[in-house]
Amino acid sequence: MTVTSAVGAPLDRVDGPLKVRGAATYAGEWPVENPAHLYPLQATIAAGRVTAVNTSAAMAQPGVLAVLTHLNAPKLAWATDPEVAVLQSDEVAFRGQIVGAVIAETPEIARHAASLVRLTYEQRPHDTDLRADRDDLHKPQHAAIFGSMPGDLQDGSPADSAAGDVGAGLAGAAVTVDATYTTAMNHHNPLEPHTSIAIWTDDEITLYCSTQGVHLTRSLLAGAFGVDAARIRAISPHVGGAFGSKVYPVTWATLALMGAQLVPGRPVKFPLTRQQMFSLVGYRPATIQRVRLGADSGGRLTAIAHDVIQQTARVKEYAEQTVGATRTMYAAPNRSTTTRVTALDVPVPTIMRGPGEATGMFALESAMDELAYAAGLDPVEFRIRNEPEVHPESGLPFSSRHLVTCLREGARRFGWPERDPAPLSRRENGWLAGTGVAASIYPSARLPGNAATIHVDADGRYTVEIGAADIGTGTWTALTQIAAEALGVAVEDVNLRIGDTTLPIASSAGFSSGINCWGTTIYAAAAELRARLESEHGGTVPAEGIEVSAEMPDNPYMAQFAMYSFGAQFAEVRVHEDTGEIRVPRLLGVFDAGRIINPKTARSQLIGGMTQGLSMALHEASVIDPRFGHVVNNDLGTYHFAANADVGSIEVHYLEERDPYTNPMGSKGIGEVCIVGTAAAIANAAYHATGIRVRDLPITLDKLLR
Ligand code: MOS
Repeated sequence: MTVTSAVGAPLDRVDGPLKVRGAATYAGEWPVENPAHLYPLQATIAAGRVTAVNTSAAMAQPGVLAVLTHLNAPKLAWATDPEVAVLQSDEVAFRGQIVGAVIAETPEIARHAASLVRLTYEQRPHDTDLRADRDDLHKPQHAAIFGSMPGDLQDGSPADSAAGDVGAGLAGAAVTVDATYTTAMNHHNPLEPHTSIAIWTDDEITLYCSTQGVHLTRSLLAGAFGVDAARIRAISPHVGGAFGSKVYPVTWATLALMGAQLVPGRPVKFPLTRQQMFSLVGYRPATIQRVRLGADSGGRLTAIAHDVIQQTARVKEYAEQTVGATRTMYAAPNRSTTTRVTALDVPVPTIMRGPGEATGMFALESAMDELAYAAGLDPVEFRIRNEPEVHPESGLPFSSRHLVTCLREGARRFGWPERDPAPLSRRENGWLAGTGVAASIYPSARLPGNAATIHVDADGRYTVEIGAADIGTGTWTALTQIAAEALGVAVEDVNLRIGDTTLPIASSAGFSSGINCWGTTIYAAAAELRARLESEHGGTVPAEGIEVSAEMPDNPYMAQFAMYSFGAQFAEVRVHEDTGEIRVPRLLGVFDAGRIINPKTARSQLIGGMTQGLSMALHEASVIDPRFGHVVNNDLGTYHFAANADVGSIEVHYLEERDPYTNPMGSKGIGEVCIVGTAAAIANAAYHATGIRVRDLPITLDKLLR
């Protein structure tokens, strides 16, 4: 049999024809009978409580079915997570928090009636100001990001880390850097707003929902509503982007289900507006980061210290591993990292593409550039000199680490050797031009809870089922290819089914772990199928077909090796001498992400991540008005992210080095490594162009005016 387009082939997206014909059904598009429409009410104060509710004008509107507030909301069974506890008390913890909802016959009536609900508040003073000199900085109590996600992620807890004596390492260094970097609050802004259609009957509870994982969504909601998970069916075959904001669909999906409880049997549609997404779906928290580095006269690091302050929410703590990459990237005898949070009267942050690594590596890789200049060393060479043999903390060998090859290969392709290292060395028609480099890293993680079923019929058609998610990344295509390879058949013979809780359980599309987990599980099911065919059917498929299932096997190598994807990113920046206008005509990345399942979808994902990194570097900042506590630029007219005109050439390459230990495919994650380091490469290039070191993201033109 000819095996066409299995792993490694640039197969077109198998869901592409559906998408271009508009036939790929997204959460809000499912055809449902006689839907009702929900519109949320959001708090207009940042802290306090609701003291009075007047819904009479809203209820009097023709077409209004119900008005929901904390006074009449269904009681949730599990409200220990204060973010899940939608409408469970009169407390207001941030501006924009859900304080009610209207359910009506049309979206217009719901929205209008919502404007007629009168809420009276008792306001208390609020505080939304992240500063390094606050007296309420504290160690995170909950390892919110990795701790609440069960799994064998390798970064450990966000507790402080230390080795040797940083003070002595810095004192004995030939060159040092001590600098503070800040990153802005950023919102995910996927193209498809967070949308649910919920139907509550005595038997089944159906939720069409834009989510990164139907099974996690189901288990969160089953817990919240105190119902058997088997009663809930979550369906999400196509998702229009997520970037982390659809991993924990706690507030909006909970509200949709509550609405559905009030009108039993009737589908309730709840699409968030773009503006509502700025308070209800999480965001990347702002950070203040101090990095201290020392190196000896040979350019070898003697000390690495990284102290992070992040904002979290008063209603619920979320802390991310901003120092995680620092603990892995470079070795030094003296190392220290700390993480402190401050709880503000703001919405709850959440994971956003490269959570922790994206912000932390901006600081570390900027500081590495500063130290390279201080030492008079080429920044590429400086990194190569500090390449560790083993993981600096655990001492484990890396399953594969080809960062040096990425740096060398990237430098060659980018034309790095021709660069004059002196800042302000290129001036072209009123523009100052410069180039910069930074390294990328992201863990190759696994999340537990995966199973797959394969059915084969006598005609040799294989149906492969796993509740995985495709958030625009190419899961439909990549898993089809992996199944074809694992089964030794052509992709045309594989019929994949994903995105539904009626399928075998799957982990969420997050932590760049999807293909690792789901592909490993499909491999296991394929092996099981072969074994069963051999042992019971003499190697041929019986007339009635056969079906097998398998769970994701453990990977014993995870305890023996440190597993990460790596990359090197190069940027060219032009800054106008008079106006400070900053442009990025060129980005180039070389990635060590193991074996590439599909070079076409991988390229798209890598370019997307670098674009988002450029956007983080130059444009994105959610601005809180401290007087009122809300994000002022809460729409796409005022929250700018990189659009076509902001992006020049982006070139990506991968090494195609198969990782022997991560999984049967030899792959590592690609979804997040690509955003890590982009901002530092651009900041470093801006310094080379102008001689101005911008340590605060985003790099706007006012920061580049002399
Ligand atoms: Mo990703 S931020 O783990 O969805």
